[in-house]
Amino acid sequence: MNIAIFASGSGSNARKIMEHFQSSGVARVALVVCNRKNAGVIGIAAGFGVPVQMIDRNMFCESEHLLDILKSHGTDFIALAGFLWLIPDYLIKAYPERIVNIHPALLPKYGGHGMYGHHVHEAVKAAGEQESGMTVHYVNGQYDEGDIIFQASCRLNPDDTPEDIARKVLALEHEHYPQVIEQILLSQG
Ligand code: GAR
Repeated sequence: MNIAIFASGSGSNARKIMEHFQSSGVARVALVVCNRKNAGVIGIAAGFGVPVQMIDRNMFCESEHLLDILKSHGTDFIALAGFLWLIPDYLIKAYPERIVNIHPALLPKYGGHGMYGHHVHEAVKAAGEQESGMTVHYVNGQYDEGDIIFQASCRLNPDDTPEDIARKVLALEHEHYPQVIEQILLSQG
């Protein structure tokens, strides 16, 4: 099985996934797709010898060229890890139930357009939540609305800052996301 990771941030989840599948016989990371030219994930992928395909909005949304590239790398499964663009229909149709996303909150709370990274943790803090967590879900044509596959939560203290919340949630993401991907791959055969 070949996984493509779509990532455009610092790439810490992408790193965990690449580390995990380096020693797992279940799948390998065949490609990283990235839309930000100075994203941390580019250097991380190079360290693992994983090719990086840069994309722009025009190529991603106005053509289906990326599909040919994914196929040329034998891609069976796509994991979003800090990728913020809505996934176009042609990809969802080509990979039904084979695109997953990680979100840094307990969906359906704190999801939707504009809810990413620190915006999520600031909203959680402002609401005075006593817990937060991470969600892995299938990707459909709406932001953060696909079926939920897995969630893990953490307790929050009243004096936790948004940065503290981000740290707790990211630790959960690193702990669980690679294994959740592996379980999905095993269950899909
Ligand atoms: C992660 O916390 C991920 O959940 C979040 O971006 C971060 C990427 O960090 N994704 C979203 O907010 C999607 N709405 P990373 O680049 O270090 O893996």
